[in-house]
Amino acid sequence: MPPQPKSAHEEHAPLEHFFDESPRPSVSAVLGGLADLVGASLRRALDPRSTKLVISRGPIQEVGGVWYILDEDTAMEVLSNAHGRYSVRGYDQRASRSLGPFYLGYDRGPDYDAVGPVANELVTALSWEQGFRLALTAGREALAGREPGARPDPERVSHAALTAACREWYGLPDHGGRVIPGEPWSGSPLPRLLDTGPPQCPNDFVLLSAAIFFEDPILPVSLGGRGAGGRLRAALRRHVRGFRLGEMDLPGSIACELGRRIHDDEALASTLIGHVMGMVPTTKENFRAIVSAWRSHRAELGDEASLAAAMRARLAGGAAEEAAAKAVLVPAMTAAMLEDPTPVEVWRTVTVDHELRGRQLEEGDVVVIAIERIGHQAITPPPGCPARDPATLDVRPVFGGDREPRDGRPGQEHACPGREAAMGLLAGMAWAVLETLPE
Ligand code: HEM
Repeated sequence: MPPQPKSAHEEHAPLEHFFDESPRPSVSAVLGGLADLVGASLRRALDPRSTKLVISRGPIQEVGGVWYILDEDTAMEVLSNAHGRYSVRGYDQRASRSLGPFYLGYDRGPDYDAVGPVANELVTALSWEQGFRLALTAGREALAGREPGARPDPERVSHAALTAACREWYGLPDHGGRVIPGEPWSGSPLPRLLDTGPPQCPNDFVLLSAAIFFEDPILPVSLGGRGAGGRLRAALRRHVRGFRLGEMDLPGSIACELGRRIHDDEALASTLIGHVMGMVPTTKENFRAIVSAWRSHRAELGDEASLAAAMRARLAGGAAEEAAAKAVLVPAMTAAMLEDPTPVEVWRTVTVDHELRGRQLEEGDVVVIAIERIGHQAITPPPGCPARDPATLDVRPVFGGDREPRDGRPGQEHACPGREAAMGLLAGMAWAVLETLPE
């Protein structure tokens, strides 16, 4: 049985673990690493809520003046925002100080409608199969030249797949030339906190994302996020100018389509940053969680040898790789993502006094959706019950819900439009690693 979660925030690992191949990972490991730079005890002192959540019960818990939503149904109600009681303006305040205006921080209304639906439509149109094929091809290339018998390095696969996805869909990284210099994905392992030099992939996107999705990031992360956002903003303006002038060849890419539909260069640059920030750290970190769970041989989350064998059996029976991966890999990916999700939380600001599950929320209060806690509950069977069948697990909480209405409830307003593409990418990356294992 998986261990009971200790808190909505996980224990933090040192920074080098984030960049190593095997150890347990997540965006919060970056936070942990940064915390190690400033002292782990300081981090705990800065975040006393995490220890208080250990003893929390029920769907909603107030800790340190912040409301934590701890069950899925309440989380989906808040994220659906049917009565307009919750705002994403906190994201907007942070974005405007870093990457620039991004519609993730806009509430329902004309500003959101000017960009959000069009931009999300382009992402939603990316299919699971596109993501799968792109990642599998890139992952195979990345592993092709390794020493015979050497264990596959999942980090190389994830970097190759994400580089391919970013290039094909957004024209970034741009072959290490115009916008993000140097070899892509090879920047310094230590996120830079305050300098104004050229941006690095993927670290600057990771830092920026942590600074926005964590409701209460530690100071080095929030300052670092601002620095990263500023570097990316300057670089992406050049990127936008490049393809406005026709210097870049990005036919069919999301960047190109967005360029056609968003006429304001500033808005276009920050939308591109927002999309890549939405894709890179989340996909990278969830993949690390998946590989780590499968390698830990905990059967309920999947086991790499048995998953590889199950894939091979289906392929031998004539199934296409896509169909086999959907049947075999996706349930095991889902279990691992629910156990160790990135982002671990998203958050909202209350706009009107109201009651939620018997608790009185007031205008200006902050509500944190504790995705990590909700994920743990989904995979942990109630006492005395058998382990959950992975086939019945639902990955949607990790993606902030579903944009489509469901069970008589409106869709979750800002839920990830990239879920299908992301799950395809993850499955392609996973199969690229598993297929190299000995039979
Ligand atoms: C495993 C991978 C991914 C995870 C776990 C993930 C998770 C999330 C979550 C939780 C949100 C909602 C935030 C909130 O409501 O506060 C979100 C929004 C978003 N994601 Fe993803 N994401 C992933 C991959 C992607 C990819 C591949 C793309 C683009 C190609 C993408 C683009 C976006 C965009 C544009 C939004 C903002 C939507 C809006 O505000 O209308 N994400 N994502």
